[in-house]
Amino acid sequence: MKALLFLGSRRVSSPPQPPRLGERVAAFLAMHLRERFETQVVDPLAYPVSEVFKPAFAYNRGAKPQPLARLEDLIRESDAYVMLSPEYNHSMSPALADLLNHFPSSAFSFKPSLIATYSSGQWGGTRAAVNMRSFLAELGCLPVSAMVHFPSADQVFAQNGELLEGQDPARWERYAGRGVEQLYWWAAAASHQRQAIDPFGLSPAFSRTPAERNAPEA
Ligand SMILES: Cc1cc2nc3c(=O)[nH]c(=O)nc-3n(C[C@H](O)[C@H](O)[C@H](O)COP(=O)(O)O)c2cc1C
Repeated sequence: MKALLFLGSRRVSSPPQPPRLGERVAAFLAMHLRERFETQVVDPLAYPVSEVFKPAFAYNRGAKPQPLARLEDLIRESDAYVMLSPEYNHSMSPALADLLNHFPSSAFSFKPSLIATYSSGQWGGTRAAVNMRSFLAELGCLPVSAMVHFPSADQVFAQNGELLEGQDPARWERYAGRGVEQLYWWAAAASHQRQAIDPFGLSPAFSRTPAERNAPEA
């Protein structure tokens, strides 16, 4: 099974120190994910989006910029997602939201996701995680119940994602493992069910107008 890990930061600045903390957290999570999934990390810096917002589905057939078309294929081919976000002003990172907003929910739907957050502060991104649940539910990749949060991530991980001295590997493994195993279970269940019953046969993707969601007029 295939998983995509979205690294939710495109910060290129220093200060604040250290440079892009998300890289080390993503490296740590990817190590654990690879025990269960063929894993690719999606780095928003590799998918520069245009200054004006034009979602992938707004392009005429075949005219989508290559990087967006390639990423949409990767999303569609994946069985599960890890959405890793720093906490910016108590919210999910705008870089992650912006990248995800480019793709239709049908690319993600009927597959599970895992919410993972971090910060340099003591709350580990928990406040960002709260609104990620509703965001990801709307995308159709329902988040599993376990969330993983990494407070003071710069004091936990080395740049390559290894735990720093003084950290207890068994505890971190158990902690991250719970999220990964829930994701694995749901990804396997959803994969079997997608093969047994075409989800879009039961609940067709919206394709013409957002008004397709509306309740019938009174
Ligand atoms: C605009 C901005 C807002 C931030 N807001 C928060 C916050 O609300 N809570 C928090 O714990 N840390 C916050 N931080 C600190 C980040 O946790 C820290 O900069 C972290 O390294 C960001 O992840 P990144 O380096 O992968 O981009 C904020 C940082 C920035 C740049």
